[in-house]
Amino acid sequence: MTDPRLAELIRLIPALKLSVEAGDLEHHGRDWTRRWTPAPLAVAWPASIDEVQGVVRWASAHGVGIVPSGGRTGLSGGAVAAQGELVLSLDRMNRVLGFDPIDRTLTVEPGIALEAVQNAAREHALLYPVNFAARGSCQIGGNIATNAGGIRVIRYGNTRQWVAGLKVVTGTGELLDLNRGLVKNASGYDLRHLVIGSEGTLGIVVEATLTLTSPPPPSQVMLLAVPAMDALMKVFAEARHRLALEAFEFFTERALHHVLAHGAQRPFAEDHPFYVVTEFDAGDEKAEAEALDFFEFCLGEGWVTDGVIASSEAQAASLWRLREGITESLAPHKPYKNDVSVRISAVPAFMEEMHALLSAEYPAFDVVWFGHIGDGNLHINVLKPAELDNGVFVEQCEHVTSLLVETLARHGGSISAEHGIGLVKKPWLGSVRSEAEIALMRGIKAVWDPNGIMNPGKLL
Ligand code: MLT
Ligand code: ZN
Repeated sequence: MTDPRLAELIRLIPALKLSVEAGDLEHHGRDWTRRWTPAPLAVAWPASIDEVQGVVRWASAHGVGIVPSGGRTGLSGGAVAAQGELVLSLDRMNRVLGFDPIDRTLTVEPGIALEAVQNAAREHALLYPVNFAARGSCQIGGNIATNAGGIRVIRYGNTRQWVAGLKVVTGTGELLDLNRGLVKNASGYDLRHLVIGSEGTLGIVVEATLTLTSPPPPSQVMLLAVPAMDALMKVFAEARHRLALEAFEFFTERALHHVLAHGAQRPFAEDHPFYVVTEFDAGDEKAEAEALDFFEFCLGEGWVTDGVIASSEAQAASLWRLREGITESLAPHKPYKNDVSVRISAVPAFMEEMHALLSAEYPAFDVVWFGHIGDGNLHINVLKPAELDNGVFVEQCEHVTSLLVETLARHGGSISAEHGIGLVKKPWLGSVRSEAEIALMRGIKAVWDPNGIMNPGKLL
């Protein structure tokens, strides 16, 4: 450690695991965006709240930025360290600390993977319902910092809904114990909810108490082929009316093309413009008959042209793979990602307008639409045509984002639905938050993090 600041850090916290190895800096300095060159000062792996506080106090004294690091599966550059920051990895703080059967809460350290939380809940015959494809790698601290959503929001809401208590180390190294698992607590500003979704800019989550719920009844998974854009939300409205929905996701023929090329199984002999994967409660014969009625009704209306209901867990998993495998199948193409939301009622008009704009201006782009359409959340990924220069592609993608921003503004939507602002969407924050709101956000940040060391440059 030739840097005197790091030598001092080791002197202050002798047990702290710290690395300046090139491989560690490279690995921990980036997230899934792959757009910035990692250049952290070092990576630290604290093993306790005390050590986190010590690192933050040291960073605050030296004006060193801290990038909190979980599974780094984020898609908005929120965990990128490209400016000599210290990466503070929560990997070693990954234990389940306790389960309370009366409260039905699980208390965990922040570095535990989402899937491990789900499994721990299952051991007590309960459910932690937030779920998405990165469950095996992402960590609960990152889920909380970004208020992660995913494929079950339609029934269970975002991460925010499941956080009953939080311990947080602020930018001054102070430890806050927020809400302490209380169900009711009408004692002023709920600072817990300020931290959730703050993208590591206010403090570091060092412990979380999560609410669990009863597992749902047995469910069925259905894949539908949808012939036209304007039919998608008609199918959704009908499904929501007739079925107890747990998920309602969509993807296009282009998305299917990429997952099939990545090894997934073709669901229908023919290609179709759109697909919906839906999961719903189907514990008895009545529910199963209702599902069939729903399908036949949609078929009769011409809103769907084919469909399949999974008849085994393996088939359900392979239908879900068609949707959950999309991100991975696109990753080698380094897509330019957009994650937008509009009110559910505005989805058809927004999609039609955006599709028309993109087809007119960029007919050569491979535009892949998919996402949580039942939440009004659409992922629009743009893939670079092979012959196009990368610099030109990035410029054109920024223009695509401007088109999106204008269209979203007409519909009162948001430039980030669930991926966060991070670095990627920062230039457009002003399109969704007013000047007064941003000024308040800056004020809040200044109080929590007076030296501006917490995830500097992200979000604001
Ligand atoms: C998803 O819904 O699959 C995730 O948000 C990831 C992505 O948008 O690529
Ligand atoms: Zn998503």
